Amino acid sequence: MTTAAADRSRLLALIGSSWRTQAIYAMVLLGIADRLCQGDPVGLQELATEVGADQGALRRLLRGLRVLGLIRESDAGFALTPMGQLLNSGDGGESLADWVRWWAGDLQWRTWGALTEAVREGRPMRERFAPASGYEVHAASAGAAHVFHSAMAQLSAAVGPAVIACLRGAAACKVIDIGGGRGELLGQVLLARPETTGVLLEQNHALPTAREHLTQVGVIARCTVAQGDFFREVPAGADIYLLKSILHNWADAQAERLLRECRRAMKADARLAVIERAIDDDSPHEADVRADLNMLVGLGGLERTVNELHALFERCGLRACSVFDAGEYRIFLCRTGM
Ligand SMILES: C[S@@+](CC[C@H](N)C(=O)[O-])C[C@H]1O[C@@H](n2cnc3c(N)ncnc32)[C@H](O)[C@@H]1O
Repeated sequence: MTTAAADRSRLLALIGSSWRTQAIYAMVLLGIADRLCQGDPVGLQELATEVGADQGALRRLLRGLRVLGLIRESDAGFALTPMGQLLNSGDGGESLADWVRWWAGDLQWRTWGALTEAVREGRPMRERFAPASGYEVHAASAGAAHVFHSAMAQLSAAVGPAVIACLRGAAACKVIDIGGGRGELLGQVLLARPETTGVLLEQNHALPTAREHLTQVGVIARCTVAQGDFFREVPAGADIYLLKSILHNWADAQAERLLRECRRAMKADARLAVIERAIDDDSPHEADVRADLNMLVGLGGLERTVNELHALFERCGLRACSVFDAGEYRIFLCRTGM
């Protein structure tokens, strides 16, 4: 193939890549991974009956999923590949099924369709397709809120061990997870530190999912699930504050307001663990760019570079004493600047 023909073919693949998202979404909504994870390969007819699909159409979807590396086919029938296994909803901390439900769902899908307007106007587009803007949208539907908080938890689950590893120090202490979602990170920290107590600070729509999760993992007795607005008040007196995937939701003015509130709440020896992506402007990773544009179109936030994050901390009287790698994220361990 000539270079021009290869470019054309690659471009056509990029233009049409929405098929991938929707094929994966269909796989999750139909419950294909949930059925196939149960053991032996399953034949087409049986699978079509069990997931409630047209046999001919399902065969074509399965062929697409095979091309994506999620399904394999043998004489015995269809089975999941190890990557496809990650779409099984019952796969504990490993599953990404709720992330698919959120990312490919109606609100996200339609919002991304307005990226051009977001770039023209420099403002987020979520409110165009939802009854409210920003996180207020989750107040309108308990079901949608549950999907969002479970989806976030599926991303956060992987950073727990790195956060625990960098939080050495007194075993008996108090941790506050600011905007902690359903408490995935806080739950992991409390499980790893049996003498530590915790507070999850969140908006109302997150609280039922958080109580359910923290009860399920067995730490609710050492944990307060508190409704609050982190722009108004971050509770004082904790030894460790966690702030994961919060700053990227907000433009600089609001991010500074929140960090100043954290600074005000922190004792002289308290630590603030900020967990964020750090975008590399010279050689950006696709995952960081995707997250950044997602912030632009949905919430009006942004992914920042390491230098931008350090500058933000400094303007708010905080200093990141250590920075740790945690997969796609970095952990900035901050102290009050003095
Ligand atoms: C991107 S999610 C991150 C959740 C969690 N920290 C994680 O990483 O899994 C941002 C969270 O901030 C919460 N949030 C947004 N505005 C808030 C506010 N003003 N006060 C408290 N929580 C807020 C949202 O409800 C949402 O759960």
